[in-house]
Amino acid sequence: MITQDVKIIKNSKVFDETHLPSTLPVREKEAQLIIRRIYTRMRDGGGTEVVAITGSMGTPGIGKTTLARYSAKKLSELATKSGIKFKYVKLNMHVPPKLNEALRIIVEKLSSNINVKGLSNLDILKAIVDYLYYNDTYLLIILDEFQGVLKAADKAGVDENMLYMLLRIHEQVPMPDEVNRIFFIIISNSETAMAKLRHKLPQVYSQITLNIYLRPYTPEELYYILEQRAQEGLVEGSWTPEILMMIAEEYGVTGRTHKLYAGNARSAIYALQRAAEIAELEGSPIITEKHVRIALSKEDSKALISLSDLNLLSLHELILLYAIAMYTMEKGGWATTGTIRKYYENAVEFFGEKPRGHTQFNQYLHRLKAADLIQMKPSGKGMRGRTSLIRLVPVIVADDLVDLLPQLIEAKKKGVPYEY
Ligand SMILES: Nc1ncnc2c1ncn2[C@@H]1O[C@H](COP(=O)(O)OP(=O)(O)OP(=O)(O)O)[C@@H](O)[C@H]1O
Ligand SMILES: [Mg+2]
Repeated sequence: MITQDVKIIKNSKVFDETHLPSTLPVREKEAQLIIRRIYTRMRDGGGTEVVAITGSMGTPGIGKTTLARYSAKKLSELATKSGIKFKYVKLNMHVPPKLNEALRIIVEKLSSNINVKGLSNLDILKAIVDYLYYNDTYLLIILDEFQGVLKAADKAGVDENMLYMLLRIHEQVPMPDEVNRIFFIIISNSETAMAKLRHKLPQVYSQITLNIYLRPYTPEELYYILEQRAQEGLVEGSWTPEILMMIAEEYGVTGRTHKLYAGNARSAIYALQRAAEIAELEGSPIITEKHVRIALSKEDSKALISLSDLNLLSLHELILLYAIAMYTMEKGGWATTGTIRKYYENAVEFFGEKPRGHTQFNQYLHRLKAADLIQMKPSGKGMRGRTSLIRLVPVIVADDLVDLLPQLIEAKKKGVPYEY
């Protein structure tokens, strides 16, 4: 049932891939580097500037495209303020266009008055250079998904020519006043692609003036990115920092985890949007931990509860997991070992068993942790003595466990495997 009077998402565009944030919460330093480089060139009367943005393979969503788009937009604003004429165009090279197509896209962006019909590539290049010269305009060309060109070059060998023509345009077709007014940002998703470029087209590679290597995001970085989206896209009071941190921790890269595809801001932003939608559908005015758990479990189906894994647990481990799920449903967040012990004792009684001693209890906890069912961390300051904090892994929905576990526990008590 959709309850119409509850609204959490105030602007859904904020969660779109194409949305460009007004400020970059994390990559601002890198953006300033790019902006300063290119702006200085424009102010001082031109020059070569080829910026390379690279990320390591298997780490999408780390802000490569965003960094380039953002820098271009800021450059545009700066140029306008300083009375400099500046334009930019982004070409997607994933499936590389033919040089002719690429040039047409550039021409379109510059002016509708340039007629390219029937012109050769070289003549179109000349037309572009003429336009920039006569209008004293600077142009930034962003070549996104640049690795696509190199892949294509492997097969056909034709696109190398295109790259050469484009990136060495100032030599192919020099401006009448010898001022170079064209800058490039090339974006690639792997160092391998850059190594290939260096090997295949050393002349082009050696033109790179600024190399920016981006790492996958840490939980803290993702937190700031999510906070910005929450402020811009969600109704005030509908979210808490804890909710954002939970998502950020799930997707962020820490020193210990080396999950492939981790550190992805795109996944984190979508998870926040899903959590908000789930809350709205339920008619809840706030996003709760449960909504986040459902949102996270929806995407990462691998991490969903595996019955065969659960069947490997002992009776008391199952009861302890049930106790932790109960705690999560009732309270949520991290719990101290002491609190979980109390929930465990209640659950043991509920299932007609006797609680085990503390040493064994701690072993159960570590087993659950090893099975990736719970997370543990040392309690920070502000707590008496040293204890561990515990919670259910965020991808699991506690309600599902509370529904399922009693059947498994009963089967285990009878000594028969749970059939499913
Ligand atoms: N530093 C950041 N600040 C704010 N939003 C960000 C930041 N980095 C990434 N994002 C957001 O995360 C999403 C993915 O970013 P982006 O498309 O730039 O990643 P990418 O590295 O180009 O990924 P791919 O390799 O898949 O092309 C976008 O919605 C973008 O707005
Ligand atoms: Mg991209």
